[in-house]
Amino acid sequence: MHVVPGLKVLYFGTPVVLISSRNEDGTANLAPMSSAWWLGQSCMLGLGNSGQTTANLLRERECVLNLPSSAMVDAVDRLALTTGKRVVPEHKVKQGYQYEPDKFSVAQLTEQASELVGPPRVLECPVQLECEVVEARPFVSASTVTAFEVKVLRAHVEEDLVIPGTHYVDPVGWDPLIMKFCEFFGGGDNVYPSRLAGGWKMPHRLQPADA
Ligand SMILES: Cc1cc2nc3c(=O)[nH]c(=O)nc-3n(C[C@H](O)[C@H](O)[C@H](O)COP(=O)(O)O)c2cc1C
Repeated sequence: MHVVPGLKVLYFGTPVVLISSRNEDGTANLAPMSSAWWLGQSCMLGLGNSGQTTANLLRERECVLNLPSSAMVDAVDRLALTTGKRVVPEHKVKQGYQYEPDKFSVAQLTEQASELVGPPRVLECPVQLECEVVEARPFVSASTVTAFEVKVLRAHVEEDLVIPGTHYVDPVGWDPLIMKFCEFFGGGDNVYPSRLAGGWKMPHRLQPADA
């Protein structure tokens, strides 16, 4: 039997992306996001207009999509509730966000120079996609969000994850960090307590097995 619960959130599960972009002063910004899907060599991203990443992408037209494995969840969670915006928007203050100019240090991640774009890659991420912004338009049903179409210019993949002698990623070896209803999952299991879920005041209180 189906019910109609009037769902408040439709985040059924997508991979987490650490998106790196360049600030006005040339420093790097890094932000977790998960409203992303791929088709061919392109990707669509949904990013809130109040974020520093959105401003950077509109200005610089470049980014790197760094895909963390589920084992990197602690680094991702350290970035939750941070923003590269010097003046933190009121709705984010209420959720507990703070301005953070040095996201790489906070996350304890390492900048790695990109080959084709300005923003750096995240060394620790097994997949790094250097991208250019092809189009940006308002997300019609949510006026505070911008939909970015980006083209992947170069895909870097950790060697162990490539099926030898092919141009394909091993789907068994690759264990993406999945964001599901603001909680972190890997391999189908809840892997870490989520600060984002706290900020959103989600009703579930999950206890990861090894937390
Ligand atoms: C796991 C996770 C997934 C997120 N997904 C998105 C998303 O898809 N789109 C978005 O705009 N913000 C998303 N956020 C929130 C952003 O990280 C947040 O808006 C942040 O302030 C952006 O950083 P910036 O202002 O430096 O760009 C997500 C946060 C976390 C922790």
